[in-house]
Amino acid sequence: MTALRFAIVGAGRIAARHLEVIREMPEITISGICSRTCVNAEKLAQEFNIPVVAANMEGLVRQTSPDALLLLVSVMSVYPVALEALEFGIPLFIEKPAGLNPDETGKLASRALSGGVPNMVGYNRRFYSVFHDGIGRLQKTGKLLGIAIEGHERIDRVRAAGVHPDEVLSAWLYANATHTVDLLRFFGGEVREIRGYARRAREPLVDSIAAVLEFENGVLGQYGAHWHSAAGWRVALYGERTGIEFAPLESGRWVDADGVKGDIAQSAEDARFKPGFFGQMRAFAALVRSGRLAFPATDLQGAHATMLLAQALARGTSA
Ligand SMILES: NC(=O)c1ccc[n+]([C@@H]2O[C@H](COP(=O)([O-])OP(=O)(O)OC[C@H]3O[C@@H](n4cnc5c(N)ncnc54)[C@H](OP(=O)(O)O)[C@@H]3O)[C@@H](O)[C@H]2O)c1
Repeated sequence: MTALRFAIVGAGRIAARHLEVIREMPEITISGICSRTCVNAEKLAQEFNIPVVAANMEGLVRQTSPDALLLLVSVMSVYPVALEALEFGIPLFIEKPAGLNPDETGKLASRALSGGVPNMVGYNRRFYSVFHDGIGRLQKTGKLLGIAIEGHERIDRVRAAGVHPDEVLSAWLYANATHTVDLLRFFGGEVREIRGYARRAREPLVDSIAAVLEFENGVLGQYGAHWHSAAGWRVALYGERTGIEFAPLESGRWVDADGVKGDIAQSAEDARFKPGFFGQMRAFAALVRSGRLAFPATDLQGAHATMLLAQALARGTSA
């Protein structure tokens, strides 16, 4: 099988994490890279043996004719860069958030659909090996009954770090909290109804959420988030005769109906690389080869549904 040729737009911290994974995948080669200033693109090109550093995305595509583009640009740039990239008509991997609000993500989703552009959005938690191990374990003893997700964001710490501009901090619900909101859809499918409360004590969109949900398949869910607290992310799955908890999300524990408990270990890939990144890139390669998106991957349409769910949680209702 000939290797797929991917080109990369963006040369920051997350591009390096993706390149560490791709370096171990003989089925993918990187044909070229570009970034806003070229400085970091030159650095990554040296470190990862990338043959072409282009001045911009248009030049990158023209010079390297890639099979697909990986858009790994800063949060504020994802929407304009993705909008431009959709015009090339080649498959896109788009780092989250694919837009800073539901409108932007929806616009990208409809452009991709009308242009027939295969695409995938980088919600990498969907590929955590511990989640898939946990789901398999739970299914052995019966059905999933309930899901509880705590998606606390440490917004004060993020603000103090000074990495993100105000526009991103104001849209943090979409820029980052969608990681845990997306897990509701990953574990439970589509949501039928939400009843909840939300507060905006200090943040413009939301900073506290307490919601109960019913999924279309009848599973019940809870989502809670208190951004000015200090707590971390947590997922609990309640199955018939099995309970599973992920806290932090990278590690799992199960308990059975007799009270017997055990740990869920990460896969070798998730322990070695940024968790989920290996499976995620393998899934994108499969999408590029087949043109078909397979679970657990999500595309712009799925990301749009996640954005709308985040918006509904922030309003405290699905209405
Ligand atoms: N899945 C996850 O868990 C996870 C974790 C962290 C980040 N991310 C996502 O990954 C993306 C990148 O984050 P990061 O931490 O790598 O950011 P970063 O370190 O700031 O790097 C961003 C890169 O994008 C380039 N860039 C910005 N605008 C551009 C444009 N218009 N055209 C070409 N290149 C452009 C920058 O170029 P210069 O180098 O020239 O400035 C830089 O190389 C973000 O969307 C973020 O949400 C995901």
